[in-house]
Amino acid sequence: MQLTKAQRERVESLLSQMTLEEKIGQMNLESPSIVGGFDVSFEELIEMVNDGRIPQEEFVKIMSTATRDFHEDDIRAGRVGAMMGDDPVKANELQKIAVEESRLGIPLMMGFDVIHGFRTVYPIAIAEAGSFEPDLFRRTASMAAKESRAHGVCWNFAPMVDVARDARWGRVSEGPGEDPYLASCFARAKIDGLQGDTSSKENYVAACLKHYVAYGACESGRDYNTTSMANSLLYNAYLPPFKAAVEEGAATVMASFNDLNGVPCTLNRFTLREILKQCWRFPGFVVSDANAIRECVVHGIAGDEPTAGVMAAQAGMDMDMGTEIYLNNLKQAVEDGRLDGAYIDEAVRRILSVKMWLGLFDNPYVPQTQIAANEVIPQSNLALALEAAEKSIVLLKNDDRVLPLDRSKKISLVGTLANKPEEVIGAWAMSWKPSDCVTILQGLKNSGAAVEYFPCGGPDAPVNEEEIAAAAAYGDVIVAVVGETVSMTGEASSKADISMPGEQREMLKKLLATGKPVVALLMNGRPMALDWEAEHLGTMVECWHLGIQMGNAVARVLLGDAAPQGRLASTFPRMTGQCPLYYNHPNTGRPGSKSKFTSRYLDAGFTELFPFGYGLSYTQFRYDGLCVADKGDYLAVSVGLTNTGERAGTETVQLYMQDVVGSIVRPVKELKGFEKVTLKAGESREVSLRLNKADMGFYNDRGEYLLEDGTFRIYAGGNSRDCLMQEITVNF
Ligand code: BGC
Repeated sequence: MQLTKAQRERVESLLSQMTLEEKIGQMNLESPSIVGGFDVSFEELIEMVNDGRIPQEEFVKIMSTATRDFHEDDIRAGRVGAMMGDDPVKANELQKIAVEESRLGIPLMMGFDVIHGFRTVYPIAIAEAGSFEPDLFRRTASMAAKESRAHGVCWNFAPMVDVARDARWGRVSEGPGEDPYLASCFARAKIDGLQGDTSSKENYVAACLKHYVAYGACESGRDYNTTSMANSLLYNAYLPPFKAAVEEGAATVMASFNDLNGVPCTLNRFTLREILKQCWRFPGFVVSDANAIRECVVHGIAGDEPTAGVMAAQAGMDMDMGTEIYLNNLKQAVEDGRLDGAYIDEAVRRILSVKMWLGLFDNPYVPQTQIAANEVIPQSNLALALEAAEKSIVLLKNDDRVLPLDRSKKISLVGTLANKPEEVIGAWAMSWKPSDCVTILQGLKNSGAAVEYFPCGGPDAPVNEEEIAAAAAYGDVIVAVVGETVSMTGEASSKADISMPGEQREMLKKLLATGKPVVALLMNGRPMALDWEAEHLGTMVECWHLGIQMGNAVARVLLGDAAPQGRLASTFPRMTGQCPLYYNHPNTGRPGSKSKFTSRYLDAGFTELFPFGYGLSYTQFRYDGLCVADKGDYLAVSVGLTNTGERAGTETVQLYMQDVVGSIVRPVKELKGFEKVTLKAGESREVSLRLNKADMGFYNDRGEYLLEDGTFRIYAGGNSRDCLMQEITVNF
């Protein structure tokens, strides 16, 4: 995010003309309030529905009488800096008030949750990360930026780059998985895609990096829960994707809900001011998460809302999402001497700079032609959504080579998830249309396959024996879609049991008992505990929630028109009780093994079900001849790769290292590089990867980066478990 000298001067000139109230207005992010038809606040009303005080039908009736208040008067009075919304007509209307009717004409920033696509919804992040393809991450983000801007949204609350190692946490779906290196690649590429093309105002938005920080480490995987960790872990595992994205130029950052070592991230001076703003020199602005400043009172870190507001502003929180605590209290706090006005000036300078960089002062509106063009999704968007979906599919098991399916075979498609448009889009997709969604049933029909659909059961539907009998009678093969509904994943959707929900295991048992081959397609937003399924099913495909082109992508992979090439960005446990489970854990003094007094579970052993980086193809690959050479500034790593099967395929060659002895215990393996390689049947290639010595260090508790001489193990392979290894002594 670079401003020209003239732009910087314009920001300063505006700042000098602003009253204290107008400055504080810029620090206020509003969303349309729902009003009328009820006596309590909208938030209270929602609470009443959630805890059962009023039934759903009553709520729907009340809502039919409600209207939305867009805070027009506040905008006119300069009391709103940013607004939530995804409607371009409304965005223009509100913008006109800000630009033409407020005293200084400062445009609004329209923000929205565009996490994995706007109307063109592509795969959820945990799935897309498994494509191991930074250029794809960039292209999908760029598509989302353009679509957002065309709808008046110039600020996307994405990317979510929380490293997440506990599959119980519902929000693992929104982020790039458990590994800091992959998450950093994802973060950089997403910033580049969202913000990189500033050649025209239509092409870019301000990204909002979230949730800063360590939200993914919430204790026991329960959303919003406390986090506590040594600083070294924070620096080595949770901060890297944020640092990478800030280096790439991320314009804004959203603080997370959790407290970190006792201090909520909303008013955490250490993470916001010291690390982000001082150490990393982040030039953009920080926004709180929804209602988070108020929640600091609930946390018990501030005695009342005005104090929470002052503490947050002092800590480096520039914008308040949704509470109006800044709006209603900061002026008084400055006048009373409880808050230095310099904090306000700093925040407003940052906010105005982002608006200036977005070009909003010169081009505040969405052109009418663009609004009309939004009616139709461009073909290029559909093609990209299809490509992303295909590349995110992970083949987990294909024991009897049932896949790819023979086109002449009749398919009985089973499972309620297979035929529901709303189940393909994944958690936190907001601006999609059901008519755009291709279900798996529709995708198979589009492909021309001989397919009949028998619901038979689902995550929230009981087993239907008659339909199972009919499915067995029709098909040569049964394709069973099982897993989680979208509402079982995402925010506020943590689970204490991540095995197959509802009666789906029973359904699978009955399908297997028919004697027909069963292909299980998983639709889910988190790693699941599938010990039983992996033992009994010969064919399993992880399809995640792949977005609007899901059905077409799944059909192409099932029928062999596209080869599966996705990998797991997150470890799959055998049982829920193993969580958090991740490949890059520190070594113990008693690493898990078959003997009893080692780090293991009596009932789940010490291994995962499917490791990080895992995924099969329709062909097989052999690795040989790992060679590691010290080239001064870097290690040159080469490994032979041969496609030993009968079809072409794409392999993701992964490079890991272990620092064998460190002044802080080091992870057993750390991903340090990867390369996707496509080989024809029988083809071999030597794959070369470079490991910069500067990247072989780690942070200590003081945040100092250390490069320690000694022995390193270098690994190369097709996943984090099955690798070739060579040791090398490295001096820095
Ligand atoms: C979520 C954020 C989201 C925000 C605004 C919060 O509940 O944690 O990820 O961006 O709402 O919708």
